[in-house]
Amino acid sequence: MSLAPTPVPPTSPADSDLVRAARGLPVSRTPVWFMRQAGRSLPEYRSLRAGTAMLDACQDPDMVTEITLQPVRRHGVDAAILFSDIVLPLVVAGMDVEIKPGIGPVIGKPVRTVADVEALPALEPEALGFLQTAVRQLVAELGATPLIGFAGAPFTLATYLIEGGPSKEHARTKAFMYAEPEAWSRLLDKLAVSAAIFLRAQVDAGAVAVQLFDSWAGVLSAADYAERVLPHSRAVFDGLGERDVPRIHFGVGTGELLPLIGDAGADVVGVDWRIPLDEATRRVGPHRSLQGNLDPAVLLADRATVDREVRRVVEQGRAARGHIFNLGHGVLPDTDPDVLTHVAELVHELTTR
Ligand code: CP3
Repeated sequence: MSLAPTPVPPTSPADSDLVRAARGLPVSRTPVWFMRQAGRSLPEYRSLRAGTAMLDACQDPDMVTEITLQPVRRHGVDAAILFSDIVLPLVVAGMDVEIKPGIGPVIGKPVRTVADVEALPALEPEALGFLQTAVRQLVAELGATPLIGFAGAPFTLATYLIEGGPSKEHARTKAFMYAEPEAWSRLLDKLAVSAAIFLRAQVDAGAVAVQLFDSWAGVLSAADYAERVLPHSRAVFDGLGERDVPRIHFGVGTGELLPLIGDAGADVVGVDWRIPLDEATRRVGPHRSLQGNLDPAVLLADRATVDREVRRVVEQGRAARGHIFNLGHGVLPDTDPDVLTHVAELVHELTTR
């Protein structure tokens, strides 16, 4: 009779493969989840969301709970990510923000002057009761599966506030950063305080890891990022105080910023598809784990291509201290959900120890 050891499945979220990989500890298999795993790729999401505005759904604890659980049930991923949005703290603070379908967040009164920065309303922690209710419900439902909490990083939120909505070049944002350095720093300070409040609320209610989304940081030079942005992102992580949860720090197009993104206080650096994970490991250094980095567009290709690319990412991820398999950015709405389920299974099959 064979007495080969069988991998022991994780029994608690805080000791899950996701948390262990984030800390560089041994895992039973490479954990996998997908950014935007909840959302329009899932028919059950589209039917539940029908008739409810995005930001209303985000403030309804039962909807948040159900939408967060949908991809976990369907795909067997190793983590849930709270269904919410990076602009939610602004909404809860009382700002006029709307999420327009197919466009993204639109701000009623963009921030364009020093006075606009001073007038930004503060986020009161007491206003996040609905979020903590959702997190507690989720933790009760999820069992050993960890829940990831998240927030938008100060820079990425500032792009929406200053541009008034999504933009490609973020030219107004950069112009404000150069022309009004004091107001810029004050704005990012305020956004860091609110992001830290948002994260603490999630962790204190039971989230066991956090991800800071600085999706658009890749538009900056390393020098500007280091001087004008990184200290504010570091302030968000510092705002977690003694809370012992791994921190994931993600941006798109950040190849040149990878060492700095790690320096802001991350246990895990999220990498997009532009830089292979073995090269990312060289840039980030040996003391942090990596998350990524399958190109979400690959999921629209044929199955043989999907499998080849998944294998490549898994192999290149072996160079890292720890690897959390993910996409290089969010799931595209046209993605066939069965392909996501297949990718989760394949990653598990390739990496079971
Ligand atoms: O990842 C998850 O499954 C958790 C939920 C999540 C959402 N937004 C739900 C959402 C997370 C982590 C976010 C973060 C977010 N929101 C980011 C950072 C991540 C990234 O993609 O870079 C950004 C930049 C936003 C701002 C935002 N909100 C955009 C650009 C959009 C898309 C607009 C569109 O319709 O294409 C949103 C809306 C949004 N946030 C949707 C979802 C599921 C789609 C809304 C819908 O279903 O109608």
